[in-house]
Formats: sequence, C-alpha cells, structure tokens
Amino acid sequence: MATKTTENTTSSTTNNKVAIENATVKESEMKNAPLHKFFVDALKDIYYAEHKLIDALQKMHDAATTEELKDAFEDHQLQTKKHISRLEKVFKLINENPEQKKCEAMDGLIKEGEEIIKSTEEGTMTRDAALIIAAQKVEHYEIATYGGLAQLAITMGHDKAADLLEKTLQEEEDTDYNLTEIAETNINFDAQQED
Ligand SMILES: [Fe+2]
Ligand SMILES: [Fe+2]
Repeated sequence: MATKTTENTTSSTTNNKVAIENATVKESEMKNAPLHKFFVDALKDIYYAEHKLIDALQKMHDAATTEELKDAFEDHQLQTKKHISRLEKVFKLINENPEQKKCEAMDGLIKEGEEIIKSTEEGTMTRDAALIIAAQKVEHYEIATYGGLAQLAITMGHDKAADLLEKTLQEEEDTDYNLTEIAETNINFDAQQED
C-alpha cells in the first residue's frame, strides 16, 4: 500500500513536470508566432506614440487660442498618461517588456501640428480650427491602432489585455467626438469671420 502511494506520487510529479514543460513549449511557441510578434511590435509603436503625445499635447495646449480647446488638450494629456500605464499593464499581461519603437507616422502627425502653429497667427480662431484637425488626425491614428489591437487580443485569447485596449479606444473616440463638437459649436464659424 505504502509503495503504491509512492508510485502515485511519483507519477503525479512526473505528470506535473510534463504539464509545466508543455506549458513552457506553448509559451515559447506563442512568443515565436508571427501574429504575436506583430502584436508586440504594434504595442511598442503605440507606446512610443503615446509618450510623444504628452509633449505634443502640451505644445498644442500652449498654442491654442480658446480656453475650451486648451482644456480639451489638457484633459487629453491626462488621459494619455493613463494610456501609457494601461499599455504597461498589457505588456505585463503577455509577459513582454514595455519598450518604445519609433513610430514614423506619429512623428509625421506631430510635425504637422507644429507646422500649423508656425503657419497660423497666435490668438486666432483659425489656429484653433487647424489645431483641432491636427489633433483629430492623431486620434484617428490611435483609434485605428487600438481598435485593431483590441480585436487581435480577443482572437489570441488575451481577454484582460483586450479590455484595457478597449478602454483606451473608447477614450480616443470620445476625444475625437469632443473635438468635433468644439469645432462646430464655437471655433469654425468665428474662424471664417477672420481676415
Ligand atoms: Fe492615447
Ligand atoms: Fe489620443
């Protein structure tokens, strides 16, 4: 009887070992899968972009004419900090290190915003109308990214990561909507009157 118990213990230990080895193999297989690699790369891309946006939103805030638009940029800067920490949680959930990868697209969009500041007059509504469009181009880039990544996370079974990505997606969509509202209610008409 005692021998049998020992055998059982040995066999269950062996089974556990096999299970752990299988899990490790699965984990490394998963890490090498092309879709996983793309997913991680895309996360690094948007992680870089969000960092860049903290400074860009500050510049747009400082350059804006109306208090309403300044507030909108300030609010979104705070949200952007949350987006960064959510991305760090996503990296952790999939056992990857948070790293930034240069995103040429975001660099280009931010440059466009800087060009607008240079080419419009300070204190004008025309500047605000143009800044809103520049900011919305950024939001649309983020919406495309987070929308796609959330769907991929669901497909790959990263449900918690998908929830976090969807939360950020919702905030980017709300920001885009809010910017349209500001433009249509207060800015565009006044900008049209400027000469
Ligand atoms: Fe963001
Ligand atoms: Fe954003």
